[in-house]
Amino acid sequence: MKVFTTVTSLQEALKDVQDKGFTVGFVPTMGALHYGHLSLVAKAGSMTDIVVVSIFVNPTQFTDKNDLTNYPRTLESDLKLLSSVRCDYVFSPSVEEMYPVEDTRKFDFGYLETVMEGEFRPGHFNGVAQVVSKLFAIILPQKAFFGLKDFQQLAVIRKMVRQMGLPVEIVPCDIVREGDGLAMSSRNKLLLPEYRNCASIIYQTLKEAKELTTTKSLQFIKDFVVNRINANGLLKVEYFEIVDENSLMPSKNFNEPGAKVGCIAVFAGKVRLIDNIIFDIN
Ligand code: PAJ
Repeated sequence: MKVFTTVTSLQEALKDVQDKGFTVGFVPTMGALHYGHLSLVAKAGSMTDIVVVSIFVNPTQFTDKNDLTNYPRTLESDLKLLSSVRCDYVFSPSVEEMYPVEDTRKFDFGYLETVMEGEFRPGHFNGVAQVVSKLFAIILPQKAFFGLKDFQQLAVIRKMVRQMGLPVEIVPCDIVREGDGLAMSSRNKLLLPEYRNCASIIYQTLKEAKELTTTKSLQFIKDFVVNRINANGLLKVEYFEIVDENSLMPSKNFNEPGAKVGCIAVFAGKVRLIDNIIFDIN
């Protein structure tokens, strides 16, 4: 495993690889790695010849300065974890290396960026698109791997790739969870013990909601999820939406065609957790 901090050194190594006709799989991350990230790296390893992982806490996607400052930075242990799977190249640039000039580009993802994360973190997806499009341009991967944990991010990236006509295949990867069901997240490290203990209620409630979809109305399930989680006292739901898996338009009832996804954001104290569940009803 080789670690690069500059664009030119990484590109030099990659040119060699691509000249030889090897396929490149790319996993973008912000570090503080866990087994969720590693599952993406392992999938990339099973589908492509050379695996590149980026570790970069991207300032342009943070809508809250404190969140950016507090985001865990654990490069040493990240590299250790990556050496336990097949990872060929790690790209860990500085902010100056990624943004030698300010990135003033404005993307337009239409409806996709106005709901849920887009509503509560305006500008977030523009920052994600800025960094991911730059990383794609630097690395030129054949395939890039994204977690279903960030369901809306995946939809936005797919749209960006279509809008820009980029020759990269986006590969979705399943959510990896802790033993009690909490979706793995770099933010889980920031949870105080009392919040960590009750955070498993989020996924337990989503699973119960999935069971209710055969007998209850969509509105009933929305109220059920919000009330059940808020009743805990320590957790506070920011939003829970049941949306179409492609358009992300809120669904009115379960009879509409297409799969629905229940997407949730919850505050556990100051830490914001997101999760989702696919209601495969039709
Ligand atoms: P980060 O939060 O580090 O996540 C990197 C990738 O890991 C994303 O595709 C995310 O969906 C996936 N991931 C995180 N937790 C997961 C879990 N429990 N199971 C499966 N996959 C999981 O998402 C970002 O970084 C950034 O926005 C980025 C795309 C790197 C752009 O800066």
